[in-house]
Amino acid sequence: MNKHIKRIAICTGGGDAPGLNAVIRAVVVAASNRGWECYGIRDGFNGIFFNERYSDGGVFRLTRESVRGITHLGGTMLGTTNRGNPLHFPLQMPDGSVKEIDRSGEIIEFFAKKEIDALVSIGGDGSLTIAAALCEKGLRVVGVPKTIDNDLDKTETTFGFDTAVSFATESLDRLHSTAESHQRVMVVEVMGRYAGWIALHAGISGGAHAILIPEIPFDIKKVAEKVIRRENEGRQYSLVVVAEGAKPMGGDLAVVEAAEIGHAERLGGVGEMVARKLHELTGKDARVVVLGHLLRGGSPTTFDRLAALRFGAAAVRALDEGQSGVMVALAHPNVNYVPLLEVAGRMRGVPLDCDIVRTGRDVGICFGD
Ligand code: F6P
Repeated sequence: MNKHIKRIAICTGGGDAPGLNAVIRAVVVAASNRGWECYGIRDGFNGIFFNERYSDGGVFRLTRESVRGITHLGGTMLGTTNRGNPLHFPLQMPDGSVKEIDRSGEIIEFFAKKEIDALVSIGGDGSLTIAAALCEKGLRVVGVPKTIDNDLDKTETTFGFDTAVSFATESLDRLHSTAESHQRVMVVEVMGRYAGWIALHAGISGGAHAILIPEIPFDIKKVAEKVIRRENEGRQYSLVVVAEGAKPMGGDLAVVEAAEIGHAERLGGVGEMVARKLHELTGKDARVVVLGHLLRGGSPTTFDRLAALRFGAAAVRALDEGQSGVMVALAHPNVNYVPLLEVAGRMRGVPLDCDIVRTGRDVGICFGD
């Protein structure tokens, strides 16, 4: 038992994912049951950096009452941001140029001044890297893995992924009939950044005929051949799922916004390119559907709710046991803890020999290679 904790803070960083509110609720209730006070930091760390902008000072008290009935709600009641990484914060200079500064020291000072003993940081790779750096500077931190992309190492899965995949699968189910009725090629672009997990899981479950993922650079001619082969077999429509980070062999990623100080590049547009090329190569009518942020919305699935609640409760247990610098991870049938330093900066892509890819190949799905 750790006798010293009286107050903890929670923050959510990076893109939102269904299940964030469930984690927050579990943390607050489990901490309150131990007699600890909880505080929520608004919009990543903006509640600390720009406290004057918030009517409640940017950091506010969380009680059982304030987290009642939020388990099933999408988004995050704390707000989030994927801009303004505290370790590489963009500072606007008087001459208009932007300089990079490290503001993590301000976070440490804030915790000391407010006598907050520990932080539960819920986020993806970026947030967990920040959490690791704060821990190195002396803050007690436990990380909780979140991302629809499922690209974090050392945990079987992240919460948010199942909800995103379920929505993408349902979208594919809906697209089969319209694609078939119009004898079209329907290209569905999904998020996932540099990993193909969403495209792979949804593509196989939703009966896609081709799946293009970042881990397997594609040859568009192979995809066109698949469409034509189906045509020759009397099936005059095809569904192609494209991960936003997929790229043609020898080609580049489709980027809509380049990386800048404080934030990563934004991907998008590969679906449009694939649809255009397939139309040129097959002569078939092709349409593109970009699922985009729809994948991040909505109520978390049962799997994600449960994972999120387990992660939140386990984060509090870790602090109670005196742990710091760890991330809660799913290791079926339990959760365990892994050092943040083993997770930070390590992206987990789809292994090419995994059985899910092999299943796809066995059931005749084209991966563009
Ligand atoms: O990491 C989650 C994610 O949704 C990625 O799949 C996607 O590339 C990115 O965030 C989009 O970010 P934004 O909300 O800034 O458009």
